[in-house]
Amino acid sequence: MALDTSSYKIPVARTVADLRATIADWRKQGLTVGLVPTMGALHDGHLSLVDLVKTKVNRCVVSIFVNPTQFAPHEDLDAYPRTEAADAEKLNRRGDLIFAPTANEMYPAGYATTINLSGVTGPLEGEARPTHFAGVATVVAKLLLQALPDVAAFGEKDWQQLQVIRRMVADLDIPVKILGGAILREADGLAMSSRNVYLSAEEREAAGQLNIILRETAAEIAAGKMISTATAESTKRIIALGFAHVDYLEVRDAASLAAFDNDKTTGGARILVAAKIGKTRLIDNMPVG
Ligand code: PAF
Repeated sequence: MALDTSSYKIPVARTVADLRATIADWRKQGLTVGLVPTMGALHDGHLSLVDLVKTKVNRCVVSIFVNPTQFAPHEDLDAYPRTEAADAEKLNRRGDLIFAPTANEMYPAGYATTINLSGVTGPLEGEARPTHFAGVATVVAKLLLQALPDVAAFGEKDWQQLQVIRRMVADLDIPVKILGGAILREADGLAMSSRNVYLSAEEREAAGQLNIILRETAAEIAAGKMISTATAESTKRIIALGFAHVDYLEVRDAASLAAFDNDKTTGGARILVAAKIGKTRLIDNMPVG
């Protein structure tokens, strides 16, 4: 059923043709264009990406598309929050166009192409969610080629995703500058995420401790503690908080996501965590040192 957009104060394009027509019009006026790809359920983290893009270019397109190909069959595709009217309200006077295609517009009958990267997609999220990055890379490549923006912004909360996108854009010579937006955090430091709405009050309290443990672990490693000792101890602390499972708590090269030899960092390191509390999987990361 078509969504009623009559209350929106920001225009919405549902087709690639409409998206391109608006952007062509802007280009004719000599305007520069940015893109913020999202899956909707917008929070302040997304809005900060729009603000970042608007410091660099004249017009900002925000895509809202819950991309089915990046969810595994057992994941939360059906439950993923879909709040387009509220998203449009938040983008009012901030973004310039919403691009909200249907799944059929993005993947019509006969669609057959998937982008697979090696290396950076292998560890961490790649192990926990083996089909995820192919879905992300494919949809982001499509969005970039549909809009052909000058810049596109992605949140640093999905740190590995950001590195995957940087790698793909470089490898495929896609003419766009990729910007990383700093993680926005709640008052207790919990990284903002569309999935935080799933947390019960008790889970939400425990979730607020995750970033504190991450920060302390990063500081210990920067001060010379062995990576394996620090992460093993911190994994136990996360479980003791009430988390059901820690998918990973690891220190990696910030750009390649490669592991460090000899249990010590040699600069440019990032600590990354994914842990499940109740039904919600949380991820976070920060620099080491
Ligand atoms: O980070 C997200 O919300 C998604 O992975 C993205 C980049 C919009 C692709 O669907």
